[in-house]
Amino acid sequence: MMPFSVYFLNENLNMVKNFLNLKKPIKEINVYLKKATNIIDFFRSEAELYEFREYLLKLLNKKKKDETPNQDLGDFQTPLDFTYKICQYLQNHNCNPEILLEPTCGEGNFIISALKIFPDIKRVFGVDLQPKYEWDFKLNIIKLRSEQEFQAEINFYRLNIFSSEFSDIFNNLEKYSEKEFLVIGNPPWITNTELSKLNSFNLPKKSNFKGLKGLNALTGKSNFDIAEFIMINLLQNLMKRRLRGKFVFLLKDSVIQKLLIENYRSSLKLSKSHALETNFQKIFHVSAHGSLFMSNFGELLEHICIKQPFLENTKNPLYSIFGWVNEKFVSNIENYKKYEWLEGNSPKIWRQGVKHDLSRVMVLHYDQKGILLNGNDEKVDIEKKFLYPFLKSSDLQVKIAQKSRFEVIITQHKLGQDTKLLEETAPKLWVYLNQNLDNFNARKSKIYNNKPLFSIFGIGDYTFKPYKIGVSGFYKKLNFCLIKPQDDKPVILDDTSYFLFFEKLMDAFFTWILLNFPDIKEFLSSLVFVNAKRPYKKEVLMRLNYAKLIEKCTFSNFKSFYHENLEGEFKMQFTEADYNTFKSELKKSDN
Ligand SMILES: C[S@@+](CC[C@H](N)C(=O)[O-])C[C@H]1O[C@@H](n2cnc3c(N)ncnc32)[C@H](O)[C@@H]1O
Repeated sequence: MMPFSVYFLNENLNMVKNFLNLKKPIKEINVYLKKATNIIDFFRSEAELYEFREYLLKLLNKKKKDETPNQDLGDFQTPLDFTYKICQYLQNHNCNPEILLEPTCGEGNFIISALKIFPDIKRVFGVDLQPKYEWDFKLNIIKLRSEQEFQAEINFYRLNIFSSEFSDIFNNLEKYSEKEFLVIGNPPWITNTELSKLNSFNLPKKSNFKGLKGLNALTGKSNFDIAEFIMINLLQNLMKRRLRGKFVFLLKDSVIQKLLIENYRSSLKLSKSHALETNFQKIFHVSAHGSLFMSNFGELLEHICIKQPFLENTKNPLYSIFGWVNEKFVSNIENYKKYEWLEGNSPKIWRQGVKHDLSRVMVLHYDQKGILLNGNDEKVDIEKKFLYPFLKSSDLQVKIAQKSRFEVIITQHKLGQDTKLLEETAPKLWVYLNQNLDNFNARKSKIYNNKPLFSIFGIGDYTFKPYKIGVSGFYKKLNFCLIKPQDDKPVILDDTSYFLFFEKLMDAFFTWILLNFPDIKEFLSSLVFVNAKRPYKKEVLMRLNYAKLIEKCTFSNFKSFYHENLEGEFKMQFTEADYNTFKSELKKSDN
């Protein structure tokens, strides 16, 4: 925030004391303050006059205000020098607003910078929930007014943007439909799931706002950034009043992508969108991937977004374009167009690994003396039949899986299977599981509710197939790992991995070769946003029709690709007849 001098604070405190001594009605005080500061309705009540006095006293006594950000309010104030750079950038890109709106404006650095840079601003509307920011904001405006003249009249609303009062503000904006707007800011950065962990009230009423149902709502898919809700709500309100202008927000990249998706689904009237990559670590000291999203609203409807670094002076600043092409949402339109021929349905189903949410109990390892231990380093004595070699996502970064470091306990062979039978078939395992019953009951995910004791997910016949090709969902670098049985047992993958499964080694081997062709990586990387938490999800892998690749591939191409690139990893003899059998099987599944 702006450093206020003791002199400046004292001056304001004296002004407040005068008001109190004069015992003038608030209306009269506001008329005076409007002239002096351009702020409309400076105090809404006498109580606020006292609140302001207390606030000034606190600032003077402490010389420093409480800087602890409120976690559940996603409270990172944008530094003034950065808001200034953003406004300058906008000015250089033909932005000259008359009406300025900043929802969740905090201490108002965007508004201060905009007032410094844009001379034609006539009205400013700022909104924030926190009383401390109302007073910071108003002090900042007073300070600016003492340094420079500006014509803009200013309204600050202390309210919750999830309330109906927030939507009411837009009724006052309707009369400005002929004017150019700048809607700017930096909304709270927090997800509804993080908020519910904090028992926070700071949520829209209908938190399942995308109408997700059933399992999707239970498993993370209903998790959303409240910034996403705020942006969509804002755009809908602006559109309803036929307003137009620039829409400029600092947003997580994932929120920008979701906005583009929503723009396509429900026509939010965004066009000329840019995601200007910004180093959030440097500015806010948070490790999130974010950009300055800059778009026009209220004019055209366009479904692409140019991604380039903010303020970088490159000769060719156009880095890439993401968005919609042929009804598909992709991360790199140019590359996608080259490999679009691979788009379709995967010939085989990609499955996710086993979910148990209890690694310390379920994932075991042998120590140097060959003693079986769990994640708490406790000795475990159970029937070996229920133990399987286990690979984690991080083990899948090689072409051929190595000997597994871990073993996993498998309590069920299919979803929902009754686990009571274990008491008879595996008495030692039954005792071990019951010793850890409290841990099983403490698993947070709702999917375990009303399920048999010690239930696991991501389990079915496919889990026990001998050959697999695994992919880590978390890694930015795509790698297909061929997995063979170990000690005559199928290898199990964790739930951050996806895999194809096979009965015969030859089928797994040929598929593995195909998946290693560069076209496959090019296609998949044109779809995914590598900075996402889990770039390679099942939905993405299922879009890859690798059968299309074999159609283009002669036996001799295929063979030489294998000899040149993969033979060193895994040696196996095969004939043209083997290849043709595989090819025709694959064609059948494609049909
Ligand atoms: C990331 S900060 C950004 C502040 C300011 N826009 C800036 O760029 O410096 C988010 C702001 O949202 C405000 N906020 C959080 N939840 C809110 C809500 N439900 N209604 C209104 N403001 C809220 C916080 O008080 C905080 O000032």
